Amino acid sequence: MCGIVGVTADPDIGRSPASMLVDGLQRLEYRGYDSAGFALLECNTSRLLVFKDKGKIKHIVEKYRVRDYCCVTGIAHTRWATHGAPTRINAHPHTDCTNTIAVVHNGIIKNFASLKEYLVEKGHRFISDTDTEVVSHLFEDFINHGYNPLDALRKTVEMLEGTYAIAIVYAREPHRIYFARNVSPLIIGLGEGFNIVSSDIPSVLPYTRRIIVVRDGEIGYIEPYRIYIEHNNKQVSWQSRISYITWSLEESEKGGYPHYMLKEIMEQPRVLQETIIGLSTDDSIQKAAEILNNSSYIFITGAGTSFHAGLVFSYFLSRIASRPSHCFISSEYETLSTSASPDSVLVAISQSGETIDTLMALRAFRERGAKIISISNVVGSSIPRESDVTIYTRAGPEIGVAATKTYLTQTLALTYLAIELAAINNSVNAMEAKKMQAELSRAGRIVSRSLDRASKNVELLAESLKRHRNIYVLGRGLGSLIAYEAALKIKEVSYIHAEAYPAGESKHGPIALVEDRFPVIFIASPPSSIYFEKLQGNIMEMKSRGASTIVFGTTSYRNLVNVDYFVDVGEASEIAAIYALTPPLQLLAYKLAVLLGRDPDKPRNLAKTVTVE
Ligand code: F6R
Repeated sequence: MCGIVGVTADPDIGRSPASMLVDGLQRLEYRGYDSAGFALLECNTSRLLVFKDKGKIKHIVEKYRVRDYCCVTGIAHTRWATHGAPTRINAHPHTDCTNTIAVVHNGIIKNFASLKEYLVEKGHRFISDTDTEVVSHLFEDFINHGYNPLDALRKTVEMLEGTYAIAIVYAREPHRIYFARNVSPLIIGLGEGFNIVSSDIPSVLPYTRRIIVVRDGEIGYIEPYRIYIEHNNKQVSWQSRISYITWSLEESEKGGYPHYMLKEIMEQPRVLQETIIGLSTDDSIQKAAEILNNSSYIFITGAGTSFHAGLVFSYFLSRIASRPSHCFISSEYETLSTSASPDSVLVAISQSGETIDTLMALRAFRERGAKIISISNVVGSSIPRESDVTIYTRAGPEIGVAATKTYLTQTLALTYLAIELAAINNSVNAMEAKKMQAELSRAGRIVSRSLDRASKNVELLAESLKRHRNIYVLGRGLGSLIAYEAALKIKEVSYIHAEAYPAGESKHGPIALVEDRFPVIFIASPPSSIYFEKLQGNIMEMKSRGASTIVFGTTSYRNLVNVDYFVDVGEASEIAAIYALTPPLQLLAYKLAVLLGRDPDKPRNLAKTVTVE
């Protein structure tokens, strides 16, 4: 879970590759941020200079004055430790014995221990605990045996098992960066007189909008005026694979908000609107609905927030389309995939399209003949590329580590799909389906209204909750699914322990912890005709044990009694309630984080995209 970037530029075009690297790397910080480093090939001398350390990129750049160096080519890395503690020695880039080769890597080399043993026996000196260092020594070893660098790269990659996006610089070829990809994401940004390799799009956006997604198994190199890609030793023609990125640079920056998380919460009205427009003009919805309709078994998977979106999909498949389904956490795929067959379909949900557990679940189901529908926010990412149909959300880049706008755009796309299926299998008639889709098209406005109504209350509530160490979040029906996501948001950004349960389940154990002033948040979601009395009962149970009772509810729950604090999100139908209830809860998590002095954009121990199993 790291970010890599490499820049090579013609010195006469007036750009500083060192500064491009620094800026590019800072835009990848969301991929990991415990240490970082740079390898530069100095102008005139082509000496390899390596600057790396633990800590934030900004501090490393200032400490070594990285921007001040004149170089033609350089690579950089931001790390989320997998092998070896986050120390200076373990930070990338990693070099060879002669200090002429430097490597940055995202992923995990599974067979690094045996490769290391083999290389040590041959006299190579290792200094780090990382899996990555085998790559620089392997590359060196092949060069020592007379291979040219491209052949050395081919031979190196042949020996690697695992996942990787790799960039390599070699001091004897100061205008070239070698790269290779297997599973971990890698793109090339095409410039005029320069080219960039990177883990992700935001790092190239200030310089170019033209990109190529490097595919699994491809290797190659970039030079300022040349790109070479091959697969299985055959040159690949990449010209027809260039995509033009329409995201604005501003979109991937904070846009005036103190944190990305807040900006992304506030952006939801717009991105929901864009997503609904995309859905109504995209034939992938129709294709996906046909696949669901023709399959006997529906499985749904995702990790973290994407799993929570999957639960919402499963709920609406049953409520609207009368189709049972099984939603599971993607890391559990090994045993769950054994029941997959050609008459099943897997709906794989991943905003990044790169979460390794979800990708592996997809592959396991696919191997057994299942059809794959994916929901993703990143065009051309791994999961969509391996799917039969992909429905794209249009949330734009999400930089805050905690998923917010991608969650609501996922639920929007999935609910839309459930309605489409309901229309095909006659669970609802065409008129009803159109009415529901029209209701969904108001999701953006519902978010705005809810945030307007609830923001002040949420701020006051955060003040009173910030001293607590534990919070329960309870709900019934859809409310319990919203509770799972709310509890995840609270715990990951504020570090307050928040736990979600279906409210009815709270009597079966969790209530044992409740004592004086223990905060319990209830999510009161429609239909109130089903849930009002039962929720009232759960509130009484908690209140009589001294709990502080807080309700986030639609207006029809205003008459609940024994409620200490009611956050009224306005009225909403069952299919639109998630857009009224979720944003104030996201905002609560954000406010708690800020009041407690946490960085909501970069919660400790977390990374935006989890690319290791
Ligand atoms: C939580 C969060 C994570 C992700 C999870 C899956 O706020 O962001 O739990 O939801 O890592 O990521 P994707 O959707 O990229 O597969």
